[in-house]
Amino acid sequence: MKPGMSLIKHYLQFKDFRAEEYAYLFERIGIVKKRFKNYEKYTPLVDRTLAMIFEKASTRTRVSFEAGMYQMGGSVVHLTTGDSHLGRAEPVEDTAKVISRMVDIVMIRTYEQSKLEGFAASSRVPVINGLTNEYHPCQILADIFTYIEHRGSIQGKVVAWVGDGNNMANTWLQAADILGFTLHVSTPTGYEIDPLVAGVSNTGCVKIFRHPLDACRGAHLVTTDVWTSMGYEAQNAERKVAFNDWCVDTAMMAAAQPDALFMHCLPAHRGEEVAADVIDGPQSVVWDEAENRLHAQKALMEYLLLGRIG
Ligand code: CP
Ligand code: NVA
Repeated sequence: MKPGMSLIKHYLQFKDFRAEEYAYLFERIGIVKKRFKNYEKYTPLVDRTLAMIFEKASTRTRVSFEAGMYQMGGSVVHLTTGDSHLGRAEPVEDTAKVISRMVDIVMIRTYEQSKLEGFAASSRVPVINGLTNEYHPCQILADIFTYIEHRGSIQGKVVAWVGDGNNMANTWLQAADILGFTLHVSTPTGYEIDPLVAGVSNTGCVKIFRHPLDACRGAHLVTTDVWTSMGYEAQNAERKVAFNDWCVDTAMMAAAQPDALFMHCLPAHRGEEVAADVIDGPQSVVWDEAENRLHAQKALMEYLLLGRIG
């Protein structure tokens, strides 16, 4: 791998890209998806290697990055805390210096954002956030592409966030700021979004509601996530009590726009954050959303490694 660290583009938070880069990416994701659906071979990343580091569990992120890299002609190395020296206290900066001399791009799922950023600062190659405690940008990239596929531009629309002020909520807030939509947020007391973590100075793009049904009124998209994110399992019992009313049900969907969509990054817990008849109902696009992780991340890796195509 050639040095040239100043030219490296990482994807560590949603706000790392500008609106016009997202416009390019959303178009590109559509092209990459269409090729895949038509069984057209497209292998621009031959001889490129992706290292994936997972310090937390994953189904979708693992499969979509791994399958996506192979489909584009590259190869993949998979590491976890338990089977690497990350779990034996080798500094993340040293790990980054070594791995980035051997591969072309790295995806990391970890706990603190600061660990990901420490890795990226010492990496010679692009680093992608595959989920941290603070953000999940690859998921929101796929979610907004899914919205656009179904309903067109998200600009000027209302997205309702019902539930924990977590990594997904922070990332939705960054996306609202960059892409020009409004985020309605309803969280239980004590689980609010922290604007400092979200890092959004334009508070005009967010409206806070005490009651989740009020947040859903007039929304074009209603979305939620688990009550307890990975890494917070010790709080599970108290969260079950605090989040009891934050279950997206048919009454909340009825308060939204008649053609509102429902999204969930998955995995979901039916009967907790979402009622089964919502997630399995006609307004839910969760399976398209999950599939689009594949197409979105293929376009993302192509962009980070090759720049704009065409
Ligand atoms: N939505 C998501 O990131 O799923 P996994 O935890 O299965 O990767
Ligand atoms: N907020 C969840 C998302 C899982 C994809 C978590 O961090 O566990």
